[in-house]
Amino acid sequence: MRLDKYLSETSVGRRKEVRIYIKEGKVRVNNEVVLIPAQEIDEENDRIEYLGQEVVHNGKQYYMFYKPRGCITARKDQKHKTVLDYFTEMNTDSLFPVGRLDKDTEGLLFLTNDGEFNHQLMYPDQHVEKNYYFWAFGTLNQEQISQLESGICIRENEPVTKPAKIEIMRTGLYCDLKRELQEFDYEKIEINKQNQSILEGRITISEGRKHQVRRMLRASGCYVVYLKRISIGTVGLDETLQKGQYREMTREEVTRLKNGG
Ligand code: URA
Repeated sequence: MRLDKYLSETSVGRRKEVRIYIKEGKVRVNNEVVLIPAQEIDEENDRIEYLGQEVVHNGKQYYMFYKPRGCITARKDQKHKTVLDYFTEMNTDSLFPVGRLDKDTEGLLFLTNDGEFNHQLMYPDQHVEKNYYFWAFGTLNQEQISQLESGICIRENEPVTKPAKIEIMRTGLYCDLKRELQEFDYEKIEINKQNQSILEGRITISEGRKHQVRRMLRASGCYVVYLKRISIGTVGLDETLQKGQYREMTREEVTRLKNGG
């Protein structure tokens, strides 16, 4: 196997990054600095080091995780529980989350040790669709929906968002819909809500900007109180998973995603 491929299948980095590390002389094979990313290595017998630390290659691993609200999409955090803290039964040294969900967002998250997989799914030029289910205070008229779907400015000097799809499933007053909303672990905001309009819907985006769904809806005058990622590409959150649970992804799911969704 090529040295850069080997490293990109570990937590060292994506293919482009590891090529730079190799050229910078940060990688050793059997104690010799190797500067050629395409160099063939014997992954069974060679000792590979990055910055003096042995790089362990566990084979490629792919997990689907049902992220609960309240935990951070990071490997480590001083204050909060992280998504890796739920993987108590395995060595997570080489595992990292693919993209991120906000602390207050729940739903589908992949974890892997495959840097290339991460790249394929998360880079904006890949246009992989992500579908979210939401509840938000506010209303959306047809014009606002069209604007959200065609592209909206969510911050000054930031390009408008790429095309999105929105489906409004239900609209009404909070006092009439609160029983339905109570089913979810939503943000309890401090306003007199009884006569506020609320809507339930789904949105599909193909980018991954920070707080993107919340900011898109905010730019249209709506405040998201519940957000859940339902699917990435054609792979949906396994309905048998409880919050905080994970399972290995099937080979077929991984292949589908690698082939563009
Ligand atoms: N959009 C958001 O606003 N938050 C997420 O966690 C994901 C998408």
